[in-house]
Amino acid sequence: MKALVLSGGRGTRLRPITHTRAKQLIPVANQPVLFYGLKAIAEAGIKEVGIVVGETHEEIESAVGNGKKFGLQVSYIQQAEPLGLAHAVLISKKFLGNEPFVMYLGDNLLKSGIKKFVEQFNKEKAHAGILLARVKNPSSFGVAELKGDRVKRLVEKPKKPKSDLALVGVYIFDQTIHTAVRAIKPSSRGELEITDAIQWLIDHGKKVRFSVVDGWWKDTGKVEDLLEANRMILDELEPKVLGKVDASSKIEFRVRIEKGAVVKNSRILGPAVIGAGTLIENSYIGPFTAIAENCKVKNAEIEHSIIMAESRIENISRRLSDSLVGRNTRISCSKQKPGALRLIIGDSSEVELV
Ligand code: DAU
Repeated sequence: MKALVLSGGRGTRLRPITHTRAKQLIPVANQPVLFYGLKAIAEAGIKEVGIVVGETHEEIESAVGNGKKFGLQVSYIQQAEPLGLAHAVLISKKFLGNEPFVMYLGDNLLKSGIKKFVEQFNKEKAHAGILLARVKNPSSFGVAELKGDRVKRLVEKPKKPKSDLALVGVYIFDQTIHTAVRAIKPSSRGELEITDAIQWLIDHGKKVRFSVVDGWWKDTGKVEDLLEANRMILDELEPKVLGKVDASSKIEFRVRIEKGAVVKNSRILGPAVIGAGTLIENSYIGPFTAIAENCKVKNAEIEHSIIMAESRIENISRRLSDSLVGRNTRISCSKQKPGALRLIIGDSSEVELV
């Protein structure tokens, strides 16, 4: 069995971060989202992986390389435009051949991995296997309508969903899917939808098996979802202090401090992770915070946030919370009078003072 990982697309819901960065490389608990998927694929015993890439191909390729560090053999498939998930399958035919394959959306995170799902598919010999999860906002996803133990209908982002069962972004297909993706037409949003291709399989009497995920699942397409995924992964973090913590600092609960990080006169209340080479001084780092490598945090309070590499946060008089801060960013507060807000921020940024 092979795997096809989708890492193209535009990431419009995560602007401005995605103006300069692939959404699949945004870190969750200090690791790119995409890496969790690749690890899950390796854990399921799959070796050959094709990654579909778009305009951010250079960045993805330099982060993943040939896949050796995951125990995988990775090749790249260039998608000229993000014309849909089924379009990604269409252009990957040469890589996939006629073998069954796992299709994994590069911005999805699944706690329980995919090993059980792959094993079950191999036992059942269906044409397709899908995973479903109960969600509060089904109209943001593909939605399944079931009848007994059968999938009756799948609809992509329905206005009036018939159930709360969302399609998780991990699928398994045999070669029949290649006929389906050639048969369907673009949807109203102009994409060739994998949801429509699976519906085609159902309409043509093919076996589509489903299971409901145990453990949590997250599509990290939006800021709130990224922060929640960060919270969930940090919640299971293995605490370890590899960096330096001085005697006047207090480290409580589950905290990981990477090599080369320095904590001075600060309190870190986990779950939290502090990246390699980062300095935390005279600060409070609260629960569910991931601070990436080579950052500087001085005289500041941060909680429930993701701070990306090389950023500096200094002399902030109010606590930073529920924030996603991009790479090489500077946030500071000056003592100059008269007091004012001075902002130098990129397109599509969001600043909320509460
Ligand atoms: O996350 C689960 C949902 O994923 C499912 O419930 C939906 O049925 C499914 O259509 C999909 O919806 P999204 O709107 O979240 O898909 P998105 O456009 O975010 O793309 C998912 C991943 O695939 C993302 O990593 C980008 C990549 N992609 C996307 C498109 C449209 C490609 O590589 N090529 C593409 O053409």
